[in-house]
Amino acid sequence: HDLELKLEELEKGNFEHYMLKEIFEQPRIVKDCMRGRIDLKVGQISLEGLKNHTKQLKAAKRILIVGCGTSWHAGLIGEYLIEEYARVPVEVEYASEFRYRNPVIGEDDIVIAISQSGETADTIAAINLAKLNGATILSVCNVVGSSIPRLSDGVVYTHAGPEIGVASTKAFTAQVTVLTLMALFMAQNRGTITSSQLIELQTELSTITSKMQTVLDVNKAVKEIAKRISAFGNCLFLGRGIGFPVALEGALKLKEISYIHAEGYPAAEMKHGPIALIDANMPVIFIATKGPSYDKVISNIQEVKARKGNVIAIATEGDKILKEIADEVIEIPAVNECFLPLLAVIPLQLLSYYAAVMRGCNVDQPRNLAKSVTVE
Ligand code: G6P
Repeated sequence: HDLELKLEELEKGNFEHYMLKEIFEQPRIVKDCMRGRIDLKVGQISLEGLKNHTKQLKAAKRILIVGCGTSWHAGLIGEYLIEEYARVPVEVEYASEFRYRNPVIGEDDIVIAISQSGETADTIAAINLAKLNGATILSVCNVVGSSIPRLSDGVVYTHAGPEIGVASTKAFTAQVTVLTLMALFMAQNRGTITSSQLIELQTELSTITSKMQTVLDVNKAVKEIAKRISAFGNCLFLGRGIGFPVALEGALKLKEISYIHAEGYPAAEMKHGPIALIDANMPVIFIATKGPSYDKVISNIQEVKARKGNVIAIATEGDKILKEIADEVIEIPAVNECFLPLLAVIPLQLLSYYAAVMRGCNVDQPRNLAKSVTVE
């Protein structure tokens, strides 16, 4: 029976590519990832892999997150969540850069290594350096029994199943889910949120998968927009707050599989450089959902429109202002700002996928890239 299940996981089924299949699997994967870890009745988060490290997590004065590629983007979201809920300062580093300086790291530090494969050479090297300096190593991994979990003091698995598409999709949303749970776990341990807040957040988290499904259900509209993007050679992705790492991930997906040059920027940084690039040939994708920086993002959009840029906005359902000012609007359900990445990344994955297909690219195996980079 187990074998049958595994074969099914490795088949594309009715999907044309693994990447598309993996995008559509996300609501189920995120649900699986939360199973047994969220308990609405007791109101607690339980994470087996962290259970023996509660003392260190409680005492931690600083947390360092390391990873590469998409995993590094998940780390930036983790920073936002851990600082928001557990109130511990977090630094996020490219694993590949970490050991080429003289990093200040010691026994009181906790390092969280994020890796889908568990085999990325740069991430392994960063872990080894941190271990040498006495830090506690926790990891967020997808492949059970791979090298990184074996090097770690504690591991929280993402349980996303095998990811075949080289461009990471479901492993990313599973990493973000695990990091959300870790942030809440730390908050509950450190007493930085009340039990009623914790229940409220868990309740909202348990509705996220049906919202992810809603986002997937509107994908036909995204196909049309992808067609337009596929004709351009460049694309900018802008977001603020927790929307910024989502913009980075959107840009990475597009460049990886469609070979369209794409950059992600914090929307407010646009005026310090990227604005010089804007004309009628520059599509700009904004994460413009309702939230603390909504008004600021609207004025960024107006600046782009004034220069004849093409604006595609990821907006909160029912947003009337964006319908007036943006060229295209992709709606997603309203959600707590902290959980936004789980919804907002989906249309960006789909846009990249369809743009790449329209350009005739090899979506599952883009040129020059490897699923797992085991050389430094
Ligand atoms: C490669 C893959 C990326 C991935 C990165 C880190 O570049 O193509 O999709 O994000 O490695 O991989 P890891 O397995 O450590 O998450």
